[in-house]
Amino acid sequence: MTLSTKKQIIAIREYQNRETDFVFGSLAAETTKSSSGEIEPTYKTSFWEEEIQTMEYFTLNNGIQMPAAGIGVFMMSPAEAEASVESALRSGVRLIDTANGYMNESGTGRGIKKSGVPREEIFLVTKLWPTVYEKETAVDETLARLGTGYIDLLFLHQPTDNWKEGYKQIEKAYKEGKVKAIGLSNFPEDLLQEATCTMEIKPQVVQVEAHPYFPQTGLKKILKETGMVLMSWYPLGHGDKNLVNEPVFAQLAENYRKTNAQVILRWHIQSGNVVIPGSKNPDHIRDNFDIFDFALTDDEMAEIAKIDKGMRYYTATPELIAQYAKMELQPDL
Ligand SMILES: NC(=O)c1ccc[n+]([C@@H]2O[C@H](COP(=O)([O-])OP(=O)(O)OC[C@H]3O[C@@H](n4cnc5c(N)ncnc54)[C@H](OP(=O)(O)O)[C@@H]3O)[C@@H](O)[C@H]2O)c1
Repeated sequence: MTLSTKKQIIAIREYQNRETDFVFGSLAAETTKSSSGEIEPTYKTSFWEEEIQTMEYFTLNNGIQMPAAGIGVFMMSPAEAEASVESALRSGVRLIDTANGYMNESGTGRGIKKSGVPREEIFLVTKLWPTVYEKETAVDETLARLGTGYIDLLFLHQPTDNWKEGYKQIEKAYKEGKVKAIGLSNFPEDLLQEATCTMEIKPQVVQVEAHPYFPQTGLKKILKETGMVLMSWYPLGHGDKNLVNEPVFAQLAENYRKTNAQVILRWHIQSGNVVIPGSKNPDHIRDNFDIFDFALTDDEMAEIAKIDKGMRYYTATPELIAQYAKMELQPDL
């Protein structure tokens, strides 16, 4: 099944007291199509701390619904991750991306608890690090650090030689209900195809570097065939001012009364990418979620496509990948 056939439009307006939930009829009946003929993501609208927020969802190839935007906590200490996650959840964000390798899963779990948001409302994403691919207790230890009974999406973080061992562990956890969806991070196209063809349970999501300087055009054709969703890391180019301040974003930001970063994140979602911008700044965290009340036109999307430089900020080498297989994790407190 391809991505286009999996996306449907529904809209639900929720009031904070949860007593007056109803289907938001005018949107519920609507089905929009992009220029490529794809049906647009699902829409939900909710009230949160007296603000109206709107979220869009992608439906994965196993039927799971995934929010189109969340936050990532890469390069944050456990205390910073805790504060960032709590702030994000209080702002209405419902998707959190962490990893064994970030060594802040415990802080992430504390942030979730402190936010008071029920676990079932949160889409929690993490990644197994290569040194635990062959450790039978890897998933259970990850669950313990996060303080949760299940993970919504569990990635293999790197395509090291022992990746099939890690994949089997995730498949086992998936069958046991400890993991709701499987992802591959930083996997090259040939290994993605191998996983799709040879593993018992097909992967649902791939997480790779993607932004307007490197939109992953080639990979996206393959993903369409395999029904996988792309999750962008470095969605804002890791904060690169050259990217964020491109004139096309400044112009569109002025037209829509948004910030340049919001325009870039909107471009991702309309390109079919889930975004997980990282931020320690509560205002940025709130802004990065406030991207569902405007839409770029096909012409504007085409203008943005012109700044594709085929430029990655990070390039994996075989030596680097081999090092990851030996890099032991430090305690995550
Ligand atoms: N799978 C992988 O191997 C991999 C690799 C890298 C990253 N990731 C994931 O991708 C996530 C995002 O990556 P990233 O955080 O490195 O890069 P990013 O999201 O592209 O950029 C983050 C930078 O942008 C700034 N920023 C965020 N929102 C902004 C806004 N509204 N206006 C202006 N500046 C803004 C942040 O500064 P402030 O703190 O000041 O807001 C920070 O310096 C990570 O947290 C992680 O979850 C995965």
